[in-house]
Amino acid sequence: MALAALVLDLGMLGACRKETASSAPELARRGRSLFLRGESTRGEPLVGRLGPERIELSGHVAACARCHGSSGRGSLEGGVEVPDIRPGALGHPRMNAVGAVDDRARPAYGRATLLRAITEGVSASGRKLGVAMPRYELGEVEREELLAYLERLGEAPDPGLSPTTLTLGAVLPLSGEREALGREVEAVLRAAFAEVNAEGGIFRRRLELVVEDEAAPEATARLLERGVFALVGGPSTASSASDTPLRREDIPVLLPLTTHGGDEEGSRFYLYPEESQQARLVVQHLARTDEENVLRRRPLWVVRPEDEAGLAWAWAAREEALRRELPAPLESTAFPDGNEPPPAILYTGPTSGLKDLLRQLESHGLEVPVFAPASLAGPSMVAGASQRVRFVYPPGLEGDEERHRVLSAFLGRHGLRPGNEALQRHAYAAARVLVEALRRAGTDVTRAELVHVLESMRDIDTGVTPPVTFGVDRRVGVRGAQLVRVEPEGGRLQAASPWIPLSP
Ligand code: HEC
Repeated sequence: MALAALVLDLGMLGACRKETASSAPELARRGRSLFLRGESTRGEPLVGRLGPERIELSGHVAACARCHGSSGRGSLEGGVEVPDIRPGALGHPRMNAVGAVDDRARPAYGRATLLRAITEGVSASGRKLGVAMPRYELGEVEREELLAYLERLGEAPDPGLSPTTLTLGAVLPLSGEREALGREVEAVLRAAFAEVNAEGGIFRRRLELVVEDEAAPEATARLLERGVFALVGGPSTASSASDTPLRREDIPVLLPLTTHGGDEEGSRFYLYPEESQQARLVVQHLARTDEENVLRRRPLWVVRPEDEAGLAWAWAAREEALRRELPAPLESTAFPDGNEPPPAILYTGPTSGLKDLLRQLESHGLEVPVFAPASLAGPSMVAGASQRVRFVYPPGLEGDEERHRVLSAFLGRHGLRPGNEALQRHAYAAARVLVEALRRAGTDVTRAELVHVLESMRDIDTGVTPPVTFGVDRRVGVRGAQLVRVEPEGGRLQAASPWIPLSP
C-alpha cells in the first residue's frame, strides 16, 4: 500500500515537472550540487538549522552528503546513526530499528512527507527526527532540484557507464614538446586496462579509454561531452578553465600526473603532495636533526623563480619555519662575504638555476647544503657538484628496485619501451588504484559512489609506489618523502635520510 503510494507520488512529481521549463535530468543535475556541496548551481548556499538552538549551517557544512554520504547510503558508524536516504530505502516502509534507535519504524516516504522531513524534521511516522538532522530552509526552486536529485540518487547511471562498458578519460599532452610523454602515459593506461579486459573486465564491463590533447581548446569539456565516467592520470595542467566543468559535475579525477595536490575537498585524488609541501618536509627534517640549534640563530634561505610554484615553495617553507618558532627564511642569493652563510638553502626552479646556485656556492667556497625537488635530479645534474644537493624523493628508496622491476615486467608484457619512469609509474599506479576502487564500488557504481569508495581506501599496494591511503579529509595518497643524493657515476639515487613522514 505504502509502496504504491510512493510510486504514485513520484509519478505526480514527474507530472508537475513537465510544466516547468527544466527537464528532470537538468533539475537533478542542479539538485546534486545542493546535495553534494551545499551550494546551488547559482552559487547560493544551502541553509539548515541544527538543534534546539537552531544553529545555522550554511554551504558545504550543510551538504546532505556530509552526513548521509555522497551516495546517500548513510552510515551506522560512530555515535550517530545516519539513515540510508536512497529511493530504495525511503520508498519502503521500515519495520525495524536502525542501530541503537528502536523507534525508527515508519511508513514509506512520499513527496510531501519527504519535504516535511527535510524542512521540519518530522519522519514519515510523525516522529520528530533527532537533533542531528538539520532543518532546511528551502526556496521553491531548491525544493524541486533537491527532490529531483533524491529521486535519482544512486539509481540513474552516470555518463560513461553502460551494461557492457565503462569509459574513462584522460587529458594528456598529445602534441608539441611533451607529446612523447603524453603518448607514454596513454600507452601505459591502455595496456593496464587491456589486462583487466582480458580477464573479463569489471563486473563484465570493458574498460575503455578516450583521450584528448590538453592543447586543444576546451579539451576537458570535449572529453565530458564524449561521456566519461571518471578521469584518470590527467589533466596534467591545473588550468582553471579546464577545471570548471570537472568541479561542477564532481567527476572523480584520479592521480593527475604533474600537479601534485593538496587535501582540498572534492572528487580529486592525488598520489603525492604538492611540490611546495616538500619545502615543509625539508624544514621539518632540518628542525628534527638540528641538535645545535643553528636554525634558531641563522635563517634558512629560499631560492626560487618568480612564478606561482616558486611563491608556493617560499610560502610553505616560511609557514613551517614559523610554526616551529624558527626565524623566517630569507629570500636571497646575495652571498655574504664575511657574513655567516645560511644553514641550508631550499631551491626550486629550473635545473639551470640550480646549477648556477651550485657554481656560486663553489666560487664563494661555501659548504652550504642545498635541498631541491627530485624532479630536478635528471641526467644533466649528474655532475660533481650535485653531490651537495639533497633531493626530496616522494616515492622513497625502500622497495624502489622492486617497483622498478614491476614496471619493467609490465612494459615488457605489452611491448612498451621504458620511458620517463616517474610518469609511467604514475600512470600505472593511477590505473591500478582506479581498477581496485571500481571493483570495490560494485556493479551499481556511480561517480559519487566511486568517490566514497576511494575515500575508504587504505594502504593500497600499486606495485610501483609506496602504499596509497585516502580518506574523507585526505586526498593525497602518499605523504612523506626521502632525501636522496645522485651518485656522480651512473646517476643512481642514494639514501641521504630515512623515510620522512610529512607531519600535518
Ligand atoms: C549533520 C548531519 C546531517 C545532514 C547534513 C543531513 N542529515 Fe538527514 N539525517 C541525519 C540524521 C542523524 C538522521 C536520522 C534522524 C533520526 O532518525 O532521528 C537524518 C534523517 C534524514 C531523513 C529521514 C530518513 C528516515 O528514514 O526517516 C531524511 C529524509 C534526510 N535525513 C534527508 C536529508 C537531506 C535531503 C539532507 C540535505 C538537504 C540531509 N538529510 C542532511 C543527519 C543529517
